Amino acid sequence: MIGGGYVGLVSAACFAEFGIEVAVVENSPTRLAALREGRIPIYEPGLDKLVESNMQAGRLTFGDDIAAAVKGAEAVFIAVGTPPRNGDGAADMQYVHTAARQIANALTGYTVVVTKSTVPCGTSRRIAEIIRAERPDAEFDVASNPEFLREGSAIGDFMKPDRVIIGLDRKAADGGERAEAVMRKIYRPLYIIEAPLVFMNLETAELTKYASNSFLAVKISFINEIANLCEKLGADVHDLAKGMGLDGRIGRKFLHPGPGYGGSCFPKDTLALSRIGQEAGSPIRLVETTVQVNDARKIGMAGRIIAACGGSVHGKKIAVLGLTFKPETDDMREAPSIPILHRLAEAGAEVRAYDPVGMDVAKPMLPPSTVYCKDALDAAKDADALVVLTEWTIFRALAPKAIREAMKGKVVVDLRNIFDPQAMRAEGLEYQSIGRP
Ligand code: UDX
Repeated sequence: MIGGGYVGLVSAACFAEFGIEVAVVENSPTRLAALREGRIPIYEPGLDKLVESNMQAGRLTFGDDIAAAVKGAEAVFIAVGTPPRNGDGAADMQYVHTAARQIANALTGYTVVVTKSTVPCGTSRRIAEIIRAERPDAEFDVASNPEFLREGSAIGDFMKPDRVIIGLDRKAADGGERAEAVMRKIYRPLYIIEAPLVFMNLETAELTKYASNSFLAVKISFINEIANLCEKLGADVHDLAKGMGLDGRIGRKFLHPGPGYGGSCFPKDTLALSRIGQEAGSPIRLVETTVQVNDARKIGMAGRIIAACGGSVHGKKIAVLGLTFKPETDDMREAPSIPILHRLAEAGAEVRAYDPVGMDVAKPMLPPSTVYCKDALDAAKDADALVVLTEWTIFRALAPKAIREAMKGKVVVDLRNIFDPQAMRAEGLEYQSIGRP
């Protein structure tokens, strides 16, 4: 496994749990030192225990020597980062290409080189070219095996996937059969739960990842716009989502309105698919619009908070509950809290924030004036308004009475709909949520 980041580490630990011997190659010395001591540099429920037990069983090892890890491996997975490139935002492929060259020079016998990072269409073929140029004698095939795991439930997603997508080089002399056999062997433990392995060509597998994530982003933006309409018409978006979602063709998941999607995948993948479509002369206009709708939504949420405070937050104390882009993660990438808190600070608000695990990661990204609190009620203390940005379970349990007693003002803006409107209003709070009367 080349790369011990989020995808690499979760995949490596889960493959090891399948009984496979996995050698992770990590080139950041600090990250490697931590991993070798069994310290997990990311927050993901259950991952520390899985890593520890598989290290103890000797199936999971960490090192920085690609040649040692690749030697004798049946498959090498590339799970290095593809961050947005400075300037134009396209995926920066330098780490993938470097990994391909290093793998090429380390290949010993027949090996399947698999991309697990989300990569632009055509990358798997590019990797094959790089390896062939570097080592014309090497015996290998390439495959694409995009990862669909969600942060916060990554292990469960990996162990019980809805499907496993595997792209093969169908233009190879054997139609990709030899590589298919290796991939089937690796994923054999999933047969028992009947998780479908879906085989396709390389280009289709690469595009399936973008299409899936973009579709989900469209679904979220759709319900967010419907929620706006519900507010105008006195409808309730939750009843509506249930009514829609019970149609099996629509499905109930991902119809929860909020302040806009964030994270490391949806914003990046929707932009990438828009670009892929533009470059291929086949624009995906629905996705292009979704990108705009979501960006505007995140910024618009600050306006909603200011309006709830009577049109000005100047000199007001605003309690903010939750900073990360979603619960059960310390990930702040593209979190709605970033534009919202900057807007509030610009408008002269004094923000008192609390997040159960994300505050250290959040600090460098948020306005310096932000005050970090020890818990939710500490943030609410003497606040003029309270805002929920992330639906951490611990916030759901807050009693309306405790909130009212802690606050000075009465305004509560719940951007994740975690509280019961009646119970909040019964306590005298001026409660606003998303898409509910
Ligand atoms: C996502 C995909 O789910 C996963 O398959 C992919 O491979 C990586 O990207 P992740 O980024 O971890 O996973 O988060 P996810 O749980 O999907 O949520 C993404 C964003 O959408 C969050 O900001 C979340 O708050 C938001 N969201 C999700 C909603 O606003 N409403 C919903 O109904 C669902």
